[in-house]
Amino acid sequence: MTARTTRSAAGPAGTAAREPQLQQTLTEFLIDEQRKVPNATGSYTALVNDIRLACKRIANIVGKGQLVDIHGKAGSVNVQGEAQAKLDIVADEIFHRTHLRGGTVAAMLSEEHEHVRPVPPEYPRGRYLIAFDPLDGSSNIDINVSVGSIFSVLLDPDPAAEIGPEAFLQPGSRQVCAGYAIYGPTTMLVMTLGHGVHGFTLDREIGEFILTHRDMRIPEEASEFAINASNSRHWEPAVSRYVDECLAGASGPRGRDFNMRWVASLVAEAHRILLRGGVFLYPRDERASARKGKLRLLYEANPIGFLIEQAGGRASTGDSPILDVQPQGIHQRTAFVFGSRAEVERIEAYHRDHNAKRYDAPLFGARGLFRTTAGR
Ligand code: AHG
Ligand code: MN
Ligand code: MN
Repeated sequence: MTARTTRSAAGPAGTAAREPQLQQTLTEFLIDEQRKVPNATGSYTALVNDIRLACKRIANIVGKGQLVDIHGKAGSVNVQGEAQAKLDIVADEIFHRTHLRGGTVAAMLSEEHEHVRPVPPEYPRGRYLIAFDPLDGSSNIDINVSVGSIFSVLLDPDPAAEIGPEAFLQPGSRQVCAGYAIYGPTTMLVMTLGHGVHGFTLDREIGEFILTHRDMRIPEEASEFAINASNSRHWEPAVSRYVDECLAGASGPRGRDFNMRWVASLVAEAHRILLRGGVFLYPRDERASARKGKLRLLYEANPIGFLIEQAGGRASTGDSPILDVQPQGIHQRTAFVFGSRAEVERIEAYHRDHNAKRYDAPLFGARGLFRTTAGR
């Protein structure tokens, strides 16, 4: 952002008033983007405007905390068998209702709903599909730690056909827009329209998102890793090796010390990695319940993966690019590894290595906190 410091020529002689320092708003950013596309209908801009409104509405409610009675468990479970928080349901309703009238969306897919929800016939059908995790990291709500909303936008593949789940089964490389809102000490909207990643901070006094982080790039050098280490006894050899080597620090094969982080909120981890670099792993593991991983492909891994790749990082299943995965189901889970490119490539190389040979934890792992079991 360049601050404008020129004096107004229109001011009275000798008392020229300073022009106000106006930072670029999301609205102005979108107008500029739309003007780059000849014959744009404005539908895409209208869609992003609705996403913005939904996130502001959710930020408002999340920010009230215990002052309003929408905290705690809802007493229900979602399609994934996970207990729903009351705020999961409220955020889902807000996201859904905010996108009904605009004529931009044909159908919506949410973590909190088993089935795809087409826009009902009383409203115009739009060109886009939107998949979302209305409240990510909701286990953190009651302890006042950052949560977020994640969204992924695809084109409706067949605007003449009745819409069903198969319309959403497109690889992440076909996303036309993706991003998240993070509800932390400040509320931010971070998104890509397919040309870089930009971050906007909500100015609550004027109710507008302001462009504060233009062209976000993931630092290449990074010394932080994020993983839920309580699952270490179930990890695959490639993951055990990577973490063992980080923990061995300066005296191990990496020759430098690493730091570990785990917020249990994908949005918060992605935000930190976009700004500070590092790597995130939620790998599949040996348990029957975790063989496919934990995070959901269409509304968690794909949108975060698109952002990470657009910011110069890498997003992977551990074996191959996440954005190339052909989805088989709308609530499909996946292993997910993302962050600074060189670290993710190293983890992919370890997966290739240990397809062929087992991992024998070397001596530097013997006294480690997460000592691997013998024979892996
Ligand atoms: P959600 O709250 O939408 O269900 O997502 C929670 C996800 C993700 O945000 C986080 O990375 C992960 O679950 C945390 O898992 P653990 O509880 O296993 O650490
Ligand atoms: Mn989530
Ligand atoms: Mn969620």
